[in-house]
Amino acid sequence: MHATPPPLRRRQWLRGAAWGAAATLPWTGHAATGTTIRLSHVVAPDTPKGMTLERFRTLVEERTGQRIRVQIYPQGQLYGDQDEMQALQLGAIDMVAPSLSKFGPIGFPEFELFDLPFLFDSVADVRRLTQGPVGQRLLDRLGRQRLLGLGFFDNGFKQMSANRPLLEPAHFVGLRMRVQASRVIAQQMRALGASPVTLPFSETRRALESGVVDGTENPVSNFWTQNMQAVQHDLSLTQHGYLGYAVVTHQRFWLNLPNADRTLLHDALHEALVFGNSIADVHNDRALAALHATGAARVHSPSAAQRQRFKTAVMPVHADLARRIDPAWLRAVREALPGG
Ligand code: SIN
Repeated sequence: MHATPPPLRRRQWLRGAAWGAAATLPWTGHAATGTTIRLSHVVAPDTPKGMTLERFRTLVEERTGQRIRVQIYPQGQLYGDQDEMQALQLGAIDMVAPSLSKFGPIGFPEFELFDLPFLFDSVADVRRLTQGPVGQRLLDRLGRQRLLGLGFFDNGFKQMSANRPLLEPAHFVGLRMRVQASRVIAQQMRALGASPVTLPFSETRRALESGVVDGTENPVSNFWTQNMQAVQHDLSLTQHGYLGYAVVTHQRFWLNLPNADRTLLHDALHEALVFGNSIADVHNDRALAALHATGAARVHSPSAAQRQRFKTAVMPVHADLARRIDPAWLRAVREALPGG
């Protein structure tokens, strides 16, 4: 935690900073004197994630009389999906809130269980994991890389988009679908007959526009706030998978704080996460209503038979994840979920 770095040429900063240099970065230490927490994320401010982090900022600054300030860098303006974790490790930023799908490539494939299609019937089911022992064990694992997981929060369920309806496997054949860097999601797209193309979120809108990819998946709030409707004319309400986040900091940052500040930040964050979970659905519903009202994209819903064909096609993805991670994870998930 230290003053905001010079107008960040983010990639230069990362390229120039060898991993070993982290130990020599200026470290002004605890928050007894004025200080700034630098928090980077990749989506728009008026999304569930943007609003949650903004609430965290407000609470921290109010409660400390601005002794601790939170500087939020949205829309990947500082770091994108590929480099924000590295920036956190290096001490170039202090907190991130990546989607759970982005933990696999950095050595935590267990987080990909949240990507399993049709695993959850509702956000209440997701909470059985995130607010229970499975969630705590996942956060604890981050300690292996000296990261500290502070909590989970929701965006919501993902929908498919392209310039055609995507309601059952036959509709996906031959399409290039942008995916997050999650093997589960890539396999899901292959199982549907599409080719997955892994791209950072910040490049997705442009890639859709230029035709590098044909379609993608996201909750409606992300779709709407990136103005994807200008380049994707069909949104299919498949609700096939979940998108949520974890707030992560670095132990070096956290352990350097006075106890009282850690408690204050922890409490403020947890209030912000509760707030975020209470508004996520509202944001997604509002974005969908805006799409309907503006007619900016055609909105489709699968029939029960289409949804069943979709589900049947993607279920083998569950068995594949079971082969890649300790089977105890999926056993614990099944036990936590209704009917498990
Ligand atoms: C996010 O909501 O953080 C981005 C999700 C994505 O990369 O699709």
